[in-house]
Amino acid sequence: MRILLALIGGLSLMTSMATGEYPSPAELPSHPALPDPLVMFDGSRVATAEEWSEKRRPELKALFEQYVYGRYPQVAGSSQPPAVQSKVLFEDPQAFGGAGTLKEVELTLGPPEWPKIYLLIATPNNKTPAACFVGMNFGGNHLLVDDERVHVPETWMPDRYTGVVDNRATDASRGVEEYTWPLAEIVARGYAAATFHCGDIQPDRPHVREGMRATLPEDADDAAETATIMWWAWGIQRAIDYLATDPAIDPARIAAVGHSRLGKTALLAGAFDERIALTVANQAGCGGSGPSRHHEPKAETVEIITRNFPHWFCANFRKFADDPTRLPVDQNCLVALCAPRAVLFTAAEDDRWANPSGQFAVLRAASPAYELLGVDGLKADAMPAADAPLLGDGRLGFWFRAGEHSMTPKDWKVYLDFADRQWK
Ligand code: GCU
Repeated sequence: MRILLALIGGLSLMTSMATGEYPSPAELPSHPALPDPLVMFDGSRVATAEEWSEKRRPELKALFEQYVYGRYPQVAGSSQPPAVQSKVLFEDPQAFGGAGTLKEVELTLGPPEWPKIYLLIATPNNKTPAACFVGMNFGGNHLLVDDERVHVPETWMPDRYTGVVDNRATDASRGVEEYTWPLAEIVARGYAAATFHCGDIQPDRPHVREGMRATLPEDADDAAETATIMWWAWGIQRAIDYLATDPAIDPARIAAVGHSRLGKTALLAGAFDERIALTVANQAGCGGSGPSRHHEPKAETVEIITRNFPHWFCANFRKFADDPTRLPVDQNCLVALCAPRAVLFTAAEDDRWANPSGQFAVLRAASPAYELLGVDGLKADAMPAADAPLLGDGRLGFWFRAGEHSMTPKDWKVYLDFADRQWK
């Protein structure tokens, strides 16, 4: 029935592997420890870089699709993503006191009725092509810069977001959240930044089939349907399709970044897309940088997150709520999928919900994949003290700071320092 619906909808529901081949969650054995990324689902060990890229990487992707995030979207029955069309809405070459260029580009992803991405891009004028941080924002591009040319989202938004009235953004709040994406400082450091509102791809509300999700046929029994975080990660990839064609940007130095739920998304994008050379998951916690198994007493659990945010993950993930030790993957395997590319996790002392020590354990347990590929992973055995960034000499970094759950200029300074180290 599912296949039939898919064909009718003009969409292919096939993914990298036949995900339906894996057992149902209830049939899986319990493994209390974080899974070894180098051990295949059938128990055999991966010994070479070739086996890693040809066997284990595809298997891990398929396991995450099947049990956590839902299938990777393959639209229009094609294994290729849709060709992204772009239209520059405005371009200001004298932004940031003349230091940079600010523009907004409308990306069309498919037929005209499909959602569009409004990508706000800041590039330094004295450094071309520049390394670029790309990621989604929570409340709209207009919150990040006080400029009336910037698009105000029209999609549904939670009322608690800044300037939102009756679930719609208003232009009363232009520029009020500049600190979350400090574009002027990023440009001054010689980097570009590109961001769009997550609701462009899919508004963040459960139980409503809207955004890209509405392009899939409905099947209530489909326990591995593409979930919101997977769609968002797919959206970041479509933004990169465009960025890779922009002469102001260096396609070999693209970093995905996001905070919290959008950090979970950045990490998934980094795991699935090898064009992303560096990933920053800012305080991403459960379902992102935090392990499903190992958690601090106050950390969010699979049970809580799948109850409160059922749309972020596929229905199968909820089936591990009682016993996450049955999951054949954990988040260290998502980091391992990024290997040998760089990943930075950040955590905050007063954000136990996002599981700081669990995040550190995830990085450590991803390191074997890096070592197999001939580079260092995390070069530390113990959690650093607060405010002492662990940027190391390896490809994995950890930034544990004092304070609360947020993404601030102080965090951005560490992302840029980490990128400097990785790329210089
Ligand atoms: C909630 C949720 C977290 C998430 C956070 C956010 O706190 O429980 O998992 O990371 O929202 O996205 O801000």
